[in-house]
Amino acid sequence: MMQFVFGSQWGDEGKGKIVDFLAAKADYTVRFHGGNNAGHTVIVGGKKYPFHLMPSGILNKKTVGVIGNGVIIDPEVLITEIKQLQAEGMDLTNKLIISPRCHLIMPYHKALDEAYENARGKNKLGTTKRGIGPTFADKVSYNGIRLYELFNFKYFEEKFRFQAGIKNKILTLFKVAPIEIERELIKFKEYRRILAPYVIDTFPILSEAVAKKKHILFEGAHGVMLDVDWGLYPYCTGSNIITGGINTGSGLPINKIDKIWAVVKAYTTRVGEGPVPTEFDDEVAHTIREQGHEYGTTTGRPRRIGWLDLEAVKFACQITSANCLAITKTDILTGIKKIKVCIGYRLEGKKIPYSGCGYVELAKVEPIYKTFNGWTEDIRMIAKFNKLPKNCQIYLRFISSFLKVPVKIVSTGPERERNIIV
Ligand code: IMP
Repeated sequence: MMQFVFGSQWGDEGKGKIVDFLAAKADYTVRFHGGNNAGHTVIVGGKKYPFHLMPSGILNKKTVGVIGNGVIIDPEVLITEIKQLQAEGMDLTNKLIISPRCHLIMPYHKALDEAYENARGKNKLGTTKRGIGPTFADKVSYNGIRLYELFNFKYFEEKFRFQAGIKNKILTLFKVAPIEIERELIKFKEYRRILAPYVIDTFPILSEAVAKKKHILFEGAHGVMLDVDWGLYPYCTGSNIITGGINTGSGLPINKIDKIWAVVKAYTTRVGEGPVPTEFDDEVAHTIREQGHEYGTTTGRPRRIGWLDLEAVKFACQITSANCLAITKTDILTGIKKIKVCIGYRLEGKKIPYSGCGYVELAKVEPIYKTFNGWTEDIRMIAKFNKLPKNCQIYLRFISSFLKVPVKIVSTGPERERNIIV
């Protein structure tokens, strides 16, 4: 069995919780793209785990966490997460495996990310400033450094000195403090020592798992609207979020994936800049932000709030071949009298699909809304779909019929057990 869980919006859909739930039966849980710009919150036994690089499914006893080659790694962040789990008594030997092909996020990438953002001024993109864009840029321009080189330290040192020397010149142009090369080299030696037990060629391990029909769960970070090719470039992130990213980011074939889960938050949120057609900012938005704790897991920024944009989500489901829906945070809409859903866009009087829009059009489109009556009953303890308030059922059924994808999970609270299985 192979499953893929992806975010169908702008990230922060609650993927971590769905992954953690599905991982209960998984032998492997695999990250294949992005870096520590992602933030997945999993709550188990009342304890909160805000993961950025660690595959969320690793919290399950028998599940092995895999960081595939498509992930870019900030060693300092990964080591913090490793230490957090070790402090809780988890032995990560053979439980966490990391591909040596992963590229490293270097201190100069983080400094460059920040410097570019500051220089863009009013045109800033709202990146997480974790060095994501500059690291992927170095990867494709052959200036990147892989984890592999960290374990061939002579080469690592030579490359690091060369790259840091160039980047320091650029940082000086931005009037930003240069990287302290000698100090960083000492740190990287220590990172190498700590990470060594986990770095191994992940491809043969995963291939064998496929051959033995093991249960593999691919854990998407971010949402499709942030995909570097299919999102709203340049208001996007540096990696491919769609199903095809699994092949490049882990080596595994996508034609063997049985279930492709679109995680759809019952409304829209966005951190970072760029147009969001259904965005609104009034008392209701404020209530949703506070009740839904809509503040970035990675940066703590307040998230922008919008109504559910089914025009965009429909595109996300098509491009990923989604065949199951997990609808999250439905409980947050409880008490809202009128709930709107965007079912299409109009530009200058004519209908236009999401895929026909660049950021210029998307900033101008008028959402076409359908309005639903809300519900007031507390739904957090409800275990069956047909026990949900009628209006809530109508809302969820509409989402499913519009997207032509069946709802299989309705999440009604942050805890692991708050799921209605349909
Ligand atoms: P970067 O990935 O840090 O370069 O940021 C690029 C854009 O993607 C910004 O708008 C970020 O706010 C957004 N972004 C990146 N990762 C996430 C995520 O996990 N959740 C929500 N937004 C994200």
